[in-house]
Amino acid sequence: MLSETDILECNGLRRAERPMNFHFQRRLSAWNRERLSPALPSPGWLDGLAEDAEWRELEGQFVEQERRFVSERVATVPRDADAFVAWFEALKGNGPGQNDALFPWLAESAPLESMRWFLQQEVAGEAGFDDLVALSQVKLPKTAKLELARNYWDEMGQGHPGGMHGPMLERLALALNLEQDCDDVVSESLALGNLMIAFAMNRRYAYQSIGALGVIELTAPGRAVHVNRGLKRLGFGGDVRRYFALHSTLDVKHSEAWNREVTRSLVAENPSVAAAIAEGALMRLTAGARCFERYRRELRFDAQLGVCA
Ligand SMILES: [Fe+2]
Ligand SMILES: [Fe+2]
Repeated sequence: MLSETDILECNGLRRAERPMNFHFQRRLSAWNRERLSPALPSPGWLDGLAEDAEWRELEGQFVEQERRFVSERVATVPRDADAFVAWFEALKGNGPGQNDALFPWLAESAPLESMRWFLQQEVAGEAGFDDLVALSQVKLPKTAKLELARNYWDEMGQGHPGGMHGPMLERLALALNLEQDCDDVVSESLALGNLMIAFAMNRRYAYQSIGALGVIELTAPGRAVHVNRGLKRLGFGGDVRRYFALHSTLDVKHSEAWNREVTRSLVAENPSVAAAIAEGALMRLTAGARCFERYRRELRFDAQLGVCA
């Protein structure tokens, strides 16, 4: 149950509009963990609904604020399917947070402790791509639904436990001794995970979720290739690096298929969803850009010089 102080703090946050508030993002993240965990019927289920309603409201306000942040750019998005896909694909070069200098540094010269700290943040912000896809595909039109199913099956290692992407990331976390519930996680990483879950768990953001997942497929390979190189330089073997090695190539194919079968087909069928897909993509990239900016600050990384202070 939320204490009065929590509610006041959350209400204060509502007024002050500060979604990067660490306390808020941490509590939202804990509530997400709880609501997504398989559970059993409990006698207190009715009381829990009131708390859920409070959190759902706060979560909605967090998302609405993030929507306002990108509204100017969303207003100019094309609604024709081919023009929209071209606009979407261009985000790889001109989207928020792209080509951040932090990544070549991670590849070429970051010390082990910096790499560990970075990965700790990334793991904390990872909401589970497989579950997000599964939640997002509900009631989608046939062509899009089939592509989400194919993507999900790849996430599931095509039926082989050793090839499942989630456990691959867990193996990396174990090898690098990353903590499960680390106090050292920054609010920007938590906010990124919370945003993805908000999209996937609320059907009114179904198309934002499609845009956000699609833009991850589009932009992840460029970063994964640097992280994989950095881990190799630091002496980690192929099994530990597999999550990043795999995503530096597989997501290129995932992105092509997603843009054709999901993004293009949905916009061709209903041009009014284009703005929502664009919005989700821009909100996800903005959340990522805030993470990179914070990581650079925490690691005392100078983007101009490409070195740590
Ligand atoms: Fe994956
Ligand atoms: Fe993928």
